[in-house]
Amino acid sequence: MLIQLTDITKIYRVGIETIHALRGVSLSIDRNEMVAIMGSSGSGKSTLMNMLGCLDRPTAGTYRLKGREVSRMGAAELAQVRNEDIGFVFQSFELLPRQTALQNVELPLVYARGSGWRWGARRKRALAALERVGLANRVTHRPNQLSGGQKQRVAIARAILNRPAILMADEPTGNLDSATTLDILTLFRQLHSEGQTIVIVTHEDEVAAHCQRVVRLRDGQIMSDLPIAQDQAGRFCAEVEARMSERALRTADSKAPSAEAKAC
Ligand SMILES: Nc1ncnc2c1ncn2[C@@H]1O[C@H](COP(=O)(O)OP(=O)(O)OP(=O)(O)O)[C@@H](O)[C@H]1O
Ligand SMILES: [Mg+2]
Repeated sequence: MLIQLTDITKIYRVGIETIHALRGVSLSIDRNEMVAIMGSSGSGKSTLMNMLGCLDRPTAGTYRLKGREVSRMGAAELAQVRNEDIGFVFQSFELLPRQTALQNVELPLVYARGSGWRWGARRKRALAALERVGLANRVTHRPNQLSGGQKQRVAIARAILNRPAILMADEPTGNLDSATTLDILTLFRQLHSEGQTIVIVTHEDEVAAHCQRVVRLRDGQIMSDLPIAQDQAGRFCAEVEARMSERALRTADSKAPSAEAKAC
């Protein structure tokens, strides 16, 4: 098993407030799965992603990545895992504005273990990654000279540069129009068909529909974890929930839940 989370909790303390962002999440992800993580705002998706990506440590529970217990890793080993085993893609692209597409893509090699990468080899690998995402003709462009979809392609090229075990994307299409969203999802699917393991956090059913499996979170817990073909029930409940909270906001009305909400 590539990823094995067991009973993960994450508690944030802000002033006197205690926030239970994850409440006992257990989740396994195998090599070459393509998984969507869904749930309403505040349900813990990004917190879970940060755990999976070793950007944050759980308050309790265990995380085994490629069979190794993450909590036992020292700072140097963790940094290496983050750099080499995990590729990140974010909604806001997170590119360095003054650097060209090529320089942005090269970055993980600059920080790679021992930094033994020579300039020429680095450049060659970064160029191949840009070519892989269809941007061979934009290598000297800076982020402000690229479209949103192209910026996300640069970020994906950077994320796959070290051939990571897992590619993680947090709302990767949140800033893109629907045609560009489809382009980016097609690229993710191609990478998946070549063996890449992919975890995508998304609000959108259209995005999740491109994945094989959907994990739905609610209040820091896994509400359902189903193959996409069986996820209709989860989608129905999420829609009912969204409609109810919309209605509650509009009318500030706390009437008894409807029959369909009770079914969830
Ligand atoms: N660094 C932090 N410090 C304190 N509380 C936090 C922190 N990060 C997240 N939280 C809280 O933890 C809960 C889960 O947040 P998280 O960012 O994981 O939600 P999310 O599902 O990604 O939401 P969204 O869809 O809006 O991005 C929220 O209640 C949030 O306010
Ligand atoms: Mg989030």
